[in-house]
Amino acid sequence: MSEDLKGKVALITGANKDIGYEIARQLGSRGATVLVGARDIKRGEEAANKLRLNEIDARSVQLDVTDQKTIDSTGKQIESEFGKLDILVNNAGIISDGDAYGGKLRLPPSQVDIETLRHTYDTNVFGVFAVTKAVLPLLKKSTAGRIVNLSSGLGSLTQNSDPNYEFADFKLLAYNSSKTAVNALTVLLAAELKDTPIKINAADPGFTATDINQYQGYRTVEQGAIPTGGYAYAAVKLATLPDDGSSGGFFDENGVVPW
Ligand SMILES: NC(=O)c1ccc[n+]([C@@H]2O[C@H](COP(=O)([O-])OP(=O)(O)OC[C@H]3O[C@@H](n4cnc5c(N)ncnc54)[C@H](OP(=O)(O)O)[C@@H]3O)[C@@H](O)[C@H]2O)c1
Repeated sequence: MSEDLKGKVALITGANKDIGYEIARQLGSRGATVLVGARDIKRGEEAANKLRLNEIDARSVQLDVTDQKTIDSTGKQIESEFGKLDILVNNAGIISDGDAYGGKLRLPPSQVDIETLRHTYDTNVFGVFAVTKAVLPLLKKSTAGRIVNLSSGLGSLTQNSDPNYEFADFKLLAYNSSKTAVNALTVLLAAELKDTPIKINAADPGFTATDINQYQGYRTVEQGAIPTGGYAYAAVKLATLPDDGSSGGFFDENGVVPW
């Protein structure tokens, strides 16, 4: 087992399953201490236990990205136990635009309920911002802080405007625009942090078979999370960028994704 991340502390939100869990597993298997963020304590503890069985230093933290109390307590816990954070992966995300991938209840943008938009933004946008803001002082204490925001190709305005885009039929107003907002947040924070060692990037894991799409995705979680083969810019890669790595970008396994 490689130990190149020994001494690093990584917080992954929504790490109790699927892509978040796999990111935790990959970082942990390289020696990082992984903090398994989960809104449900029991599911978080089960995931951390499973990682510990694989000799990973994993601890669960109760973290609902829509609940400021749990965000603040997570920050305090990391501060008191480690005094710093090296890697933040904002992975937790939801799709609430009906039965998005099955298509049965997929609504045209103008028909989306405003509550659906608010609900989606609470997790996918405000949650990313709130968690990042809370732990930024701890990332600044790292010698090489890295932030990865799980975005999506569905958040690309260029791709949404292209009728030939592979997922041109997936016009999910709430989800797609929430990921566009995540991209904006990534760019603006990167500009603010440009004179620090912190690098912040958005990652598109690709269409991965998970709960979020009723397992319709055609990649395995391992491919979504790790740069095996051509997956050079997936989340794990961006979480472990070298000092001269990019910041303020949007990447998938093929490289740059258009905004
Ligand atoms: N799968 C894909 O094809 C794909 C493609 C592009 C981008 N992405 C992005 O990749 C990320 C991970 O997706 P996934 O496919 O692994 O989804 P998933 O299987 O639905 O897992 C989502 C994770 O986020 C957690 N979560 C949801 N709301 C939360 C909240 N308020 N607080 C804390 N955790 C919360 C879930 O916890 P519970 O178990 O408690 O529900 C779960 O652990 C998402 O940001 C998604 O948008 C996925």
